[in-house]
Amino acid sequence: MAEPGKTKFQVDLRRHLRENEVDDNLTHLICEIAEASKYIINSIRTGDLGVAGTSNLYGEQQLALDVLADRILRKRLDHSRVVANIMSEEMDEIIPISPDCEGKYSVAFDPLDGSSLVDVNLAVGTIVSISAGCDLLQAGRHQVAAMYILYGPRTTLVYSTGDGVHEFGMNNLMEYTLLREDIRIEPKGNLYSPGGQRNLYTPGVEAFVSSLEDRGVKLRYSGGFVPDINQVLLKGRGIFFYPHLNGSPKGKLRLLFELNPMAFLVEQAGGAASDGRTRILDLEPDHIHGRSPVFIGSKEDVALAEEYIRKLDGVEPSIVEKKSKKQASSS
Ligand code: F6P
Ligand code: MN
Repeated sequence: MAEPGKTKFQVDLRRHLRENEVDDNLTHLICEIAEASKYIINSIRTGDLGVAGTSNLYGEQQLALDVLADRILRKRLDHSRVVANIMSEEMDEIIPISPDCEGKYSVAFDPLDGSSLVDVNLAVGTIVSISAGCDLLQAGRHQVAAMYILYGPRTTLVYSTGDGVHEFGMNNLMEYTLLREDIRIEPKGNLYSPGGQRNLYTPGVEAFVSSLEDRGVKLRYSGGFVPDINQVLLKGRGIFFYPHLNGSPKGKLRLLFELNPMAFLVEQAGGAASDGRTRILDLEPDHIHGRSPVFIGSKEDVALAEEYIRKLDGVEPSIVEKKSKKQASSS
C-alpha cells in the first residue's frame, strides 16, 4: 500500500515488496531480475537481430538476442547470493548456483519469450518462476512467486508473491513504479487469444471456439505469450489458449518456463488455468522441457473449454492423439 500522503505512482518495486512484508531474499531476487530487465531492453532496442548459429533443446534456432538475454539473467542470478538452482528455456539442464538450499530460491525462466517477433517490432517478454529451496522439478502450485516483464511500447513488470498481482511501469529514470495493485480477472471474458492452427484443432477445441464466436467474443491475438496474457490480466477478462493439436497432443508451450508462472499469476488474479482436463498448477513435470496445452484466463471460459474437451476429445491427451490420427487418415 502507498503511505498516506504519497501517490501510488511514487511507490517503487523494492518499497512495494518491503511494505508487503516479502522475505528479504525474495525481495532482493525480484529486484535483481528487474535490474537485469533493463539490460535486456537495451539489447532488444539496439541488438543484433540475426541468429546465434545454435539451437535450443526444442530444435529452435537461437537468436543472438535469446542468447544475450539468457546470459544477462544468468549472470545476475549467479551473483545474487540468494539463488540455489536455475534453469532456462535456452539451457539443456538445471544449473546449480549454490549447494545450500536453506533460505534460497530456485528460478526457472524464459529469458526472451516471443523473440522471433522482435524483427517485426512486436512486443516480447521475460517470464520467471520462483520456488523456495532447491527443487525446480515440481508441480507449479509449489511456486512462491512469479513475474514477467513486458517489453512493449512501454516496459511493464507484473509480479505476485502469493498476495495478489501488481503491475509496475518503467519510468524515465528506468525505475519500476506502481501502476496497479491487486489486478482481478472477471469470471467471463469478451476476448480470446487462440494459439495454434485452426485446421489442426480437435473437435472439442473447435466446438469451444465456435461457442465463443457465437457469443460475440472478439479475437485479440498478438503471437507473443507475454503480451497476450498481459492483455487478459490488464483488461480484466478473456481467455488465452494454445491447445492440444492434431499431431501435437502437448501443444507448444513449456510447463516450467511459461505455463506455471503465468498460471500462478492468473490464479492470483482470480482466474483459472487448465490443460483442458487438469489444473496447470497440479501437473507433475516429467522433465525440464515438458510441454502442455493451456487454457488460461476468465474462470467460466476455462471451465467451458474443459467441458467441450471432456465431451468431445475424451479424458486422456493420448486419446486425442489417436482420434486425430484416425481423423487425419479418413479425411
Ligand atoms: O515461446 C513460444 C511462443 O513464441 C509464445 O510467445 C507464443 O504464444 C507462441 O509461441 C506462438 O506460437 P506460434 O508460433 O505457433 O504462433
Ligand atoms: Mn517462450
